[in-house]
Amino acid sequence: MSQAQKGICAEPNLHALFLIFNVIDDDEQAVRAKLAHILELFTHYDEEHYEAMVSGVLAVGSHYWHELYPGLIPLELAPFPDMHCEDRNAPVSLGDLFVQIRADRLDICHAIGAEICQVLKPHVDLVEEVRAFRYLDGRDLTGFIDNADNPKGMQKFSVAIVGDDDPDFAGGSYVHVQRYRIDMDRWQRLNQTAQETIMGCHKNSNEILDLNELTDASHHQRSQFSADNQEKIALLRQSMPYGDMTTQGSMFVSCASSPRHFRKMLRSMIFGTEQGMYDSLLDYMTAETGGAFFAPSVNFIKQQSKA
Ligand code: HEM
Repeated sequence: MSQAQKGICAEPNLHALFLIFNVIDDDEQAVRAKLAHILELFTHYDEEHYEAMVSGVLAVGSHYWHELYPGLIPLELAPFPDMHCEDRNAPVSLGDLFVQIRADRLDICHAIGAEICQVLKPHVDLVEEVRAFRYLDGRDLTGFIDNADNPKGMQKFSVAIVGDDDPDFAGGSYVHVQRYRIDMDRWQRLNQTAQETIMGCHKNSNEILDLNELTDASHHQRSQFSADNQEKIALLRQSMPYGDMTTQGSMFVSCASSPRHFRKMLRSMIFGTEQGMYDSLLDYMTAETGGAFFAPSVNFIKQQSKA
């Protein structure tokens, strides 16, 4: 059975480092081998510093995939959905390789990141580097607990990992990444009731608002879907806050067994209902980047490193 990368279903950590690279030469054979080397690095640090709960995700951009692994395409691989409606945007920023490093030690995240940059030299340019952190008791900078309604236990795997319906890519995961900037001044000027109306849940308990308080423009309603069999459509979200005293926001990362769920939710947030009820969280959070990636199984990366 194909083994999923450990970082996809790992528990949240205190620190994360997100790196996005563009590949600048056409030595695909070398890059394939180096991806396997990076998986070994994750394992090495995990074993050497087990108390740091190290985990990593390595994913290949939907465009670059065709160059790196020609002829071997995950069934649903698709570009990031470029969406715009009025002043709500989901811009696309092409990235060839996405690396998510998470640990309970900032120094370990840094050390792994530095080694990965060395390993990938001279084939890549680093185009994005974001350090993210756990904030209070797992809240994002809006002050609401983030990722609380994530699937738990074994359900994580069925939500996040490709199964046997795409046997060559079983164990893989469709990863979407967006860096959002928050307009902190405007958000903090809202009182708690207004913030809860936007989120659709209570700030302290995270409970969903009563039906008479819940609006179609709330983040909860705009990201809430059921499949034909009434089962809730879910993503495994791994978002974390980032920022300094000048610029802050959320690094949104989701992993899923299909890219359709993310697309459906993002469309609903941006375009909203027929009555124009879009996700009012987007009046305060602006997407600045967006990328669609596929994180292949450990077995796939290792096998292809010799090809
Ligand atoms: C703009 C940055 C975002 C912030 C600050 C944010 C924050 C939140 C918060 C606080 C919750 C409630 C607690 C929980 O996590 O379960 C939530 C729920 C959720 N969010 Fe987001 N989110 C963001 C973007 C997105 C995007 C882009 C998507 C998908 C395209 C998404 C999908 C979801 C889903 C599926 C839920 C669970 C809904 C439910 O079943 O109650 N979020 N988000």
